[in-house]
Amino acid sequence: MIHARGLAATFVTGKGRRQREVRAVDGVDLDVAEGEVVGFLGPNGAGKTTTLRMLTTLLRPTAGTATVNGFDVATQSVQVRRSIGYVSQAGSTFSQALAGDEVADHGQLYGMSRRAAVARGRELFTSLQLDGLWDRMPKNMSGGQRRRLDIVMGLIHDPTLVFLDEPTTGLDPQARANLWEHIAALRTRRGATVFLTTHYLDEADALSDRIMIIDNGVIVASDTPENLKSQVSGDLVHLGFASAEPVSRAASALENVGATEIETDGSGVTARVRGSAKVIPGLLRELAAGGDALEEGDALEEIEIKRPTLDDVFLTLTGRSLRDAEAAVDPTDEETDR
Ligand SMILES: Nc1ncnc2c1ncn2[C@@H]1O[C@H](COP(=O)(O)OP(=O)(O)O)[C@@H](O)[C@H]1O
Ligand SMILES: [Mg+2]
Repeated sequence: MIHARGLAATFVTGKGRRQREVRAVDGVDLDVAEGEVVGFLGPNGAGKTTTLRMLTTLLRPTAGTATVNGFDVATQSVQVRRSIGYVSQAGSTFSQALAGDEVADHGQLYGMSRRAAVARGRELFTSLQLDGLWDRMPKNMSGGQRRRLDIVMGLIHDPTLVFLDEPTTGLDPQARANLWEHIAALRTRRGATVFLTTHYLDEADALSDRIMIIDNGVIVASDTPENLKSQVSGDLVHLGFASAEPVSRAASALENVGATEIETDGSGVTARVRGSAKVIPGLLRELAAGGDALEEGDALEEIEIKRPTLDDVFLTLTGRSLRDAEAAVDPTDEETDR
């Protein structure tokens, strides 16, 4: 559905001697198959929006090629636009019109009849829980309602390929969870292919069949969330005992099963353990049995196993946590026209 090779976008910012080149997207290859939900993850400024704008024909690539739904983004932009849905990061700018009229106009822009656009719009209002808001001006809606209205606009012509740029940024947790359900339903109910960007790790994890991580304009990983997480060196396991006595024994038992980053502290031990679900039960049996079995008072009091998160993956790949990476974005970067 989407194929890109060497896709690149360079912006020139500043004037005169302060002029410099920003390689916003620096040679991206990507392939998205029909029916896939792909999460395009990266810190602010990584190049997500710029990539999306090239794939949706809103920005001409500086280099490289891409086809979307079989159409070339450079030479067949009309066909590309007709065949996709796009919800921009900024959202739509609305006039004083009523939401329903905006939606119906938008459908007609895609060649739908007024009647069909209204019918489809009403159906989408219901499924996105916007019932009763057809005659409301978008400026009088909540942020979450407006964002869902953006999504109605993106879906009005029933596209089989949908691009969503940070669909949930700025929404409260409940509205986010709600939107996740709708995005998941796009695929299960309509068989749509979804390409969404996010800087929320939990969101990428929950929604995506595959995650592509972009950093500084370069794709640094592309795999299922599970595979990405399994590349990180194991689950974080913490065992806490009633006393300090069994700690050293637990630490060496962990070492025997190949655990790394073993750290003891008072009456607890923490370590990274690959495949902990398979390893930990045996390890506990070993601690409980044997010559110097756990005495009363040495008992295991707590056990905690944390699966690696996508933040661990990002850290492993880039040496920075996603949060630090965001903090590093220069907010004074001037935006100029392409
Ligand atoms: N029109 C533009 N002019 C100059 N620089 C831009 C422009 N658009 C984006 N950039 C720069 O390109 C980089 C990538 O931006 P963007 O694709 O918006 O990142 P993301 O969507 O991942 O947050 C950033 O450094 C940004 O400042
Ligand atoms: Mg963006």
